[in-house]
Amino acid sequence: MVEDLRLDSLEGVGPVTTRKLSDAGVHNVMDLIVRGPVEIAEITGMEKETAEKIVNKARQHLVETGLISRDFVTATEVYKRRQDIGKITTGTNCLDTLFDGGIETQALTEVYGEFGSGKTQFAHTLAVMVQKPKSEGGLDGGVLYIDTENTFRPERIVSIAQAHEMDPEKVLDRIIVARAYNSAHQTLILEEAGPVIEENNIKLIVADSAVGLFRAEYLGRGTLSNRQQKLNHFVHMLSRIAETYNCAAVATNQVMASPDVFFGDPTRPIGGNVVAHTSTYRVYFKKSGKKRIARMVDSPHHPEEEVLFALGEAGVMDIEDAEKKPGKKTAKKATKKDKEPDTVESVELETVESAKLEDKSAEDSDDLESMEE
Ligand code: GTP
Ligand code: MG
Repeated sequence: MVEDLRLDSLEGVGPVTTRKLSDAGVHNVMDLIVRGPVEIAEITGMEKETAEKIVNKARQHLVETGLISRDFVTATEVYKRRQDIGKITTGTNCLDTLFDGGIETQALTEVYGEFGSGKTQFAHTLAVMVQKPKSEGGLDGGVLYIDTENTFRPERIVSIAQAHEMDPEKVLDRIIVARAYNSAHQTLILEEAGPVIEENNIKLIVADSAVGLFRAEYLGRGTLSNRQQKLNHFVHMLSRIAETYNCAAVATNQVMASPDVFFGDPTRPIGGNVVAHTSTYRVYFKKSGKKRIARMVDSPHHPEEEVLFALGEAGVMDIEDAEKKPGKKTAKKATKKDKEPDTVESVELETVESAKLEDKSAEDSDDLESMEE
């Protein structure tokens, strides 16, 4: 651990407090900032005033060491801090255009869309691309992949890495997978993430799905606000970690396409507005036959636009690249191509999707979401 970040480098924090904090999963000065005074008091049992003092000291310490900016800063400094923002290429021209170069660090990017729209494939692709050197659009960084739905597939990582001419073994080695079994566990993983992020130079944190477990566990109207509060806590922590550690955070969120809604956006994020209000970027993924549509929603500085992309061996792909995939190309008849340009791999894709549809159909009748705000 960097010497400057040790808890006992703070004036007045001795071995007893250090132990109390590390027992509660707070391992360094950054963690103090990420958790905040209220939570520090709660998890360690120390007085709120003491916790506030320690967190303020931590903040001061990080300001002095230049790791975070002061509370009152000039726009020049904000501008400078923003210069540190790194971008991770998506490995495609179309999505890079949508994201204006790639997924940003110091930000939470929410990807929402219905089942099979490509959220998990997108996350897998980023987990590979972030490892590329900076000269090739990556950040030469590692990945913390919080897998809540057991949908992380190393095989997909291997095939994406190969498609991008990277050594699959090395790529796999730099992805730390944390399988979360329930929402409390999911939150705990993030609370304990500080040292992992530092030791492995993590530049991308994925929460796929950020919302699913919360949704599954908190059913019924009585528990909705409780769920939102807990989810809120998780998502805010994710966003603070992204800012503090200068890494990119990607949270996925499943939405249902609701054909019964006639006005406005026919889909709504399952997490209600908690996720949306915290995310810096929101992207909506939608199926369009074989292809996928990505739309930038609510970005502070991107125009609201849409691009088309495809899913394939290389994860998320440009349509042209997906269509000229070797092996499959010959099977495609010229006449069929003319009539149906969208049908590459349609058979295998539809099978997976219809299987998924059955899986999810029970959940899809859940109408609690309309209660949220
Ligand atoms: P949920 O998690 O169910 O909400 O869906 P999601 O948005 O995460 O969808 P996901 O990213 O899992 O995308 C699934 C789609 O990717 C399906 O249409 C799959 O057929 C396709 N897909 C997954 N792996 C491959 C692959 O190796 N090759 C190709 N061509 N397509 C794949
Ligand atoms: Mg998924």
